[in-house]
Amino acid sequence: MNLKLRTLNFLLLLLCLSFAVEMDLSPAEAAGKKLYMTGKGASDQPVTALMSGVSVPATVMPCVNCHGKKGLGQSGGEMAPPNITWKALSHATESADRQRPSYTEKTLKRAITMGLNPDGEALKQVMPRYQMTMEDMTNLLAYLKQL
Ligand code: HEC
Repeated sequence: MNLKLRTLNFLLLLLCLSFAVEMDLSPAEAAGKKLYMTGKGASDQPVTALMSGVSVPATVMPCVNCHGKKGLGQSGGEMAPPNITWKALSHATESADRQRPSYTEKTLKRAITMGLNPDGEALKQVMPRYQMTMEDMTNLLAYLKQL
């Protein structure tokens, strides 16, 4: 193989690889992932977290801190942040520590902003109440559905 052809092959491989990475998440999902991991929104409008009545930037308390990288939560402990993968949220649960109907997109938004479960019951105060733009919420939900 001559050098030109080899270089061309290499470039093609790089192109395929970068495409594969891009294909992984849609732009909305990627923005949602950033918000989940870092607390940073898509615009200059800051995302805030209301923690026991005190408003802090969400960058101080992003979702990943409690629910983990894969949204599986943590079992045991005082707080025990629950599993928030879409598989878990879209199903009703009747476990000993959690009874609630399944979430819809609408009730999920309400849980994140107002801290209410689908029955309208308040979640514990350790789960912050978040304020964000509609665009950020759309992105976050797109990502949560991937978890
Ligand atoms: C400081 C820790 C903490 C952070 C940060 C946090 N959560 Fe939570 N979250 C919890 C805990 C604890 C619960 C359980 C509350 C309860 O049982 O009443 C919870 C509950 C939830 C629920 C309800 C689950 C169910 O089954 O009813 C959802 C949805 C949720 N969190 C989403 C999020 C999202 C999205 C973020 C980021 C924007 C986030 N949480 C950030 C601790 C946290």
